[in-house]
Amino acid sequence: MDINSTTGPLAEITADWLIVGHFTVDSSNPLPAPLAELDAALDGTITRLAASGDLTGKLAASHLLADVPGLAANRLLLVGLGQADELDSRRLEKALVAATRRASKSASVSAAIALPELGSESIGDSEAASLAAMALQVGCVGQALYHTDPSRYAFSAASVHSPADDAVVRGSVLGEAINLTRELVNRGPMDVYPESFADRAAAAAAEFGLDCEVLDENRLQEERMGSLLAVARGSVKPPRVVVLRHNGGPEGAPALAIVGKGVTFDSGGLSLKTSEGMKTMKCDMAGAATMLGAMTAIARLSLPVNVIGLAGLVENMPDADAFKLGDVLTARNGTTIEVLNTDAEGRLVLADVLAYAVDLKAERLIDLATLTGACVVALGEEVTGVFSNCPEWSQALEQAARQAGELAWPMPMHDLFGDLIKSDVADIKNVGPRWGGSVTAAKFLERFVDKTPWVHLDIAGPSFASSNKPHREGGATGCMVRTLVAAAESLA
Ligand code: BES
Ligand code: MN
Ligand code: ZN
Repeated sequence: MDINSTTGPLAEITADWLIVGHFTVDSSNPLPAPLAELDAALDGTITRLAASGDLTGKLAASHLLADVPGLAANRLLLVGLGQADELDSRRLEKALVAATRRASKSASVSAAIALPELGSESIGDSEAASLAAMALQVGCVGQALYHTDPSRYAFSAASVHSPADDAVVRGSVLGEAINLTRELVNRGPMDVYPESFADRAAAAAAEFGLDCEVLDENRLQEERMGSLLAVARGSVKPPRVVVLRHNGGPEGAPALAIVGKGVTFDSGGLSLKTSEGMKTMKCDMAGAATMLGAMTAIARLSLPVNVIGLAGLVENMPDADAFKLGDVLTARNGTTIEVLNTDAEGRLVLADVLAYAVDLKAERLIDLATLTGACVVALGEEVTGVFSNCPEWSQALEQAARQAGELAWPMPMHDLFGDLIKSDVADIKNVGPRWGGSVTAAKFLERFVDKTPWVHLDIAGPSFASSNKPHREGGATGCMVRTLVAAAESLA
């Protein structure tokens, strides 16, 4: 879906839905900017709504006026942005996605968004235009991918009332990238398995101009990825590793590698999960899907950096040949691993792919993984855990997240946590004690990144939402796509 930028009087915008954001309305003061303009075209309707207390401007509250004489648009949806001095990108996103979700419930409708001049310190007008375009993309796509009668429809045409064309394109590209990530995560494991994920990645690469290489099981043997291959043994679906490249920087310039956990279904393997624990485990490839979404945006925005995207794709199942407790694996970098829980499989997959990224001479690493329930216990369902071997690179990622309007928080990485995964029979074991589980998992990964500056993002909580909210659909969220793009931009 393309999104245009428009200018001119609001009353002349033709659309089925004209979404107009406005700050808090206070009946003792004059109407704020975009409302005053509309009020004149609408013969004082908005003044009357404000006086009666029907129009408040509370954050994300919306008020629908249909079939209004004086407006070219069929419907006017007034959406509250709260207090002007409190607005930031997260609040604006909440209000705008709530509005686009409301408008996207029927087929073949067009939508336009207009915002007041913000005059805000924490968010500029072009960033706001960008968010509006993103909201138009994200709000009209839901998780009901398999409904025979769709409950949400892409807009037939969409526009943002802003002179900032580039910002609108950027927001639209980010929105589509987020939707690609969401779609892959929301599809069931019968549709999304290592080979089909790799095919989809190859198709996206061809569409957006990324180089793509897919390593099959024979190649993975040759590359000595014994740890990843062990996880794959319990499934009839063969594993894959996808390697995408965006060569936007000078040839030979240092590259950023983004590595995603792509467990297309996590049954736990022989350390079988409960039915309840398995219900959402189609989401266990969210790291890989986030990498793919971000790589498409990085390519479409032609960022002047070299970025390698890698996905470690396996299905974790308990078939007859499944890897077992007590098995000792040799990972690509020679580290031996005692398997004591086959449900701690994500780290086994990432171990080999991280080592491969190091061998590709990546100068900086980011990995994303739905790695541990413990991280959700620690930080809740909306905050990403940040683990790193390099304070400067960790801070760069935290800054990228802030800039992208996403929530991330640093976690400790003291050596004492590394001691907890020492094994009596191998170099390390794949689980530590219960306490500090997200950190021991990160210490495990650290063994495979050599000295490369590396940040691990545990997205087990924020990548998948348990319920629908007015301002965001349940299911896959596409979290961290924007943070990855901002992180790549920070290296340009
Ligand atoms: N994929 C899960 C982690 C997970 C849990 C993701 C909840 C999303 C929501 C991971 O493979 C896993 O099973 N981790 C175990 C580790 C344990 C066996 C050390 C966990 O968190 O319980
Ligand atoms: Mn698991
Ligand atoms: Zn898992």
